[in-house]
Amino acid sequence: ITLNIETLEGETRAVPVEPQGSLMVAIRDNGFSELQALCGGCCSCATCHVVIDPTFTPKLPAMSEDEDGLLDGSDHRQESSRLSCQIPLTSELDGLKLRIAPGD
Ligand code: FES
Repeated sequence: ITLNIETLEGETRAVPVEPQGSLMVAIRDNGFSELQALCGGCCSCATCHVVIDPTFTPKLPAMSEDEDGLLDGSDHRQESSRLSCQIPLTSELDGLKLRIAPGD
């Protein structure tokens, strides 16, 4: 599948990835080191914050209370913000567009 990832500098790159693991790992493994993901995916750091193109919202899993609470702590939270480590990468998400959110 292909992910369309926009960096903090506003550059978008189309990246081919296998539909496995989490969205966070796919972003990290493709050299986007600005996605810090400090806790390694256990939903406790919020440094894997991304803003998803709202047209893909219906394809995403529901947000847990933990994820919601962590996102609330960010000054950069948007309507379609998510923690990328909480999104399993499936073939449904082919073409997914997202933007890496700035840290706090
Ligand atoms: Fe820490 Fe996602 S990597 S919350």
